[in-house]
Amino acid sequence: MANEPKRYLVTAALPYANGPLHIGHIGGAYLSADIYSRYLRSKGREVLFVCGSDEHGAAITLRARKEGKTPKEIVDYYHEKMRRSFEDLGISFDIYHRTSSIEHIEMSQSFFQKLKESGSFEAQTSQQYYDSEAKQFLADRYIMGTCPKCSNERAYGDQCENCGSSLSPLDLIQPKSVLTGSTPELKETTHWYLPMQNHESWVRNYIKEGLDDSKKQHEPSEWKAHVLGQCMSWIDGGLQSRAMTRDLDWGVPVPGEPGKVLYVWLDAPIGYITNTKVWADAHQRNWEDYWKSEDTRMIQFIGKDNIVFHCIIFPILLKAHGSFILPYNVPANEFVNLEGDKISTSRNWAVWLHEYLEDFPGKEDELRYVLCSIMPEQKDSEFTWSDYRERVNNELADILGNYLNRVIVLTHKYFEGRVPALTETLMSESELNLGLQVTKSVELVGKKIEEFRFREALAEVMNIARTGNKYLTESEPWKLIKTDQARVANILHQNLNYLAKISIVIQPFLPFTSAKILRALNIEHSFGWDHATKNILLEEGHQIGLSPILFEKVTEENIDFQVEKLRKSKVVISKPSEPFLPEVGFEDFQKMDLRIAGVKAAEKVAKTKKLLKLTLDLGTEERTVVSGIAENYEPSDIIGRKVLYLANLSPKEIKGIKSHGMVLMAIGTDGKMSIISPVENASAGDVVR
Ligand code: 2FM
Ligand code: ZN
Repeated sequence: MANEPKRYLVTAALPYANGPLHIGHIGGAYLSADIYSRYLRSKGREVLFVCGSDEHGAAITLRARKEGKTPKEIVDYYHEKMRRSFEDLGISFDIYHRTSSIEHIEMSQSFFQKLKESGSFEAQTSQQYYDSEAKQFLADRYIMGTCPKCSNERAYGDQCENCGSSLSPLDLIQPKSVLTGSTPELKETTHWYLPMQNHESWVRNYIKEGLDDSKKQHEPSEWKAHVLGQCMSWIDGGLQSRAMTRDLDWGVPVPGEPGKVLYVWLDAPIGYITNTKVWADAHQRNWEDYWKSEDTRMIQFIGKDNIVFHCIIFPILLKAHGSFILPYNVPANEFVNLEGDKISTSRNWAVWLHEYLEDFPGKEDELRYVLCSIMPEQKDSEFTWSDYRERVNNELADILGNYLNRVIVLTHKYFEGRVPALTETLMSESELNLGLQVTKSVELVGKKIEEFRFREALAEVMNIARTGNKYLTESEPWKLIKTDQARVANILHQNLNYLAKISIVIQPFLPFTSAKILRALNIEHSFGWDHATKNILLEEGHQIGLSPILFEKVTEENIDFQVEKLRKSKVVISKPSEPFLPEVGFEDFQKMDLRIAGVKAAEKVAKTKKLLKLTLDLGTEERTVVSGIAENYEPSDIIGRKVLYLANLSPKEIKGIKSHGMVLMAIGTDGKMSIISPVENASAGDVVR
């Protein structure tokens, strides 16, 4: 870490209070932020770890509408639920506050007012989509339509979750109101905009070179490649004015402008500042030390969908306001997938944190361990229950749990539970080297945490346990005890000390386990990180405690139950029912040459998920058609069957194959396709009228 700062401000994205937390949230932003903060505290650094609920925006109001509740009822419920789940998992925020609080309304209004008065915003009048039935303008998630970039039919007014493009409602093809399903009309409205294009030059420098006003803000080489990549592609795509207010009734009211509220992505990051102030006021500290002093280093932990808001928009707001520091690093993670599919709240495809904590009481660290081991630091990763079981059983239980147990049991057996003496002259060269290796591992763990490489850091912690376990096995104290008690004393003395060191370095990752090891070793005071590089932590004669079962094995039934629970509760989202199309005359219908065709051959189209190449028998000739049914039919399901075929649709090239005509399908409301086959005898080539 270049030039140690005086203090650290660590933030973790404020989660929307619109649903419970799941493992994707934890593996995305909160576990890494917690490990980092715990590590800094253990190093004796001054650190403030800030988070809270994000209680505004469409995420909340749409949920309230769906549940027939008020937004206030929704945020009150989920704020408390999330706060408790975080606490139960050992996420060690110094403060977890909320953006619907009076403190936050005041802070964000005064922030807005200052920017408005200093001319940082521009008023712009434009045509925006309006739902006259719901009597509401449709910004952001209130409007859906087809993405102009990837044709995803469920793109939102602010973003397409399929291709990641940032959108505006006017970009959507066939826009529909999320509130009523109706096609919106355009209506004039005026808002305050942030002209981001005016900031392009310094933002580019800040991201790319780590510089602002020739001051070094950070080392760009320390930023993750995917974060830099996303920022640069946004900047290179051209920064544009972005509206900072909305016509809504739930949010922070725009001072003096009834009916308007602050854009949620303006008020939410200011929540980090509010929450710092709330903490500082309660602890007789000055919040400005954390936000306006060059001696503070701000590290913001988020998921990848939040990158541009934290790396570009928030820094522009902070700089426009003046005297605020900018984020030093934004080590965003990518996404955790679950059992081969994206985690989705609406499809109920998630492992909910509160349910995990209920189903696996006392097993918080098992989840922390697995999520850290698969943390999506550079790319998306995958949580599966079978992998969870393997990691808990083969790594935590068999390596760490077993090591602790053997050392403690042997110490009781041979030395009445007291740390035996160390006779240095009896130590072999390899034993001396082992001590050095453990010290090196401890240093490496710290270095990896500072580089935000939490997976590697945790693997190195486990290497210490692995090394100690191997040393114990190979030195066979249970045989040596008959002939050489002093050597056995040496072996156990060293292993007890290695365990004490593990209790220190494992603490940021598995705090509950660390506490259990400390209890087992009967250590009452807390050691700081640097103690782990000291030679002796447990002196001769120190009485240790009894061996706990650190980790119980996970059974096959345990995980089968979880997988079954997931599958049973999965919600299949139906598409809204298709409206009937305008009438056509009989002449138009007659223009369509509909036939029965036999499927002679079918094969998957390479590098696609949805396409099958079909060879059709039309009685008099064969035709090739590319059909989008591969997700519902295997080639073997369809060969030999008869299908309904539109013969005179102009040929089209799809993935390099000339597709002639179209096989007709019934498309269910869930998107599932079924071929339409004649029920009576019909021959290939028969005409359909
Ligand atoms: O993506 C989200 O869940 C947002 N609520 C994160 C906000 S982070 C910050 F700006 F508050
Ligand atoms: Zn898209």
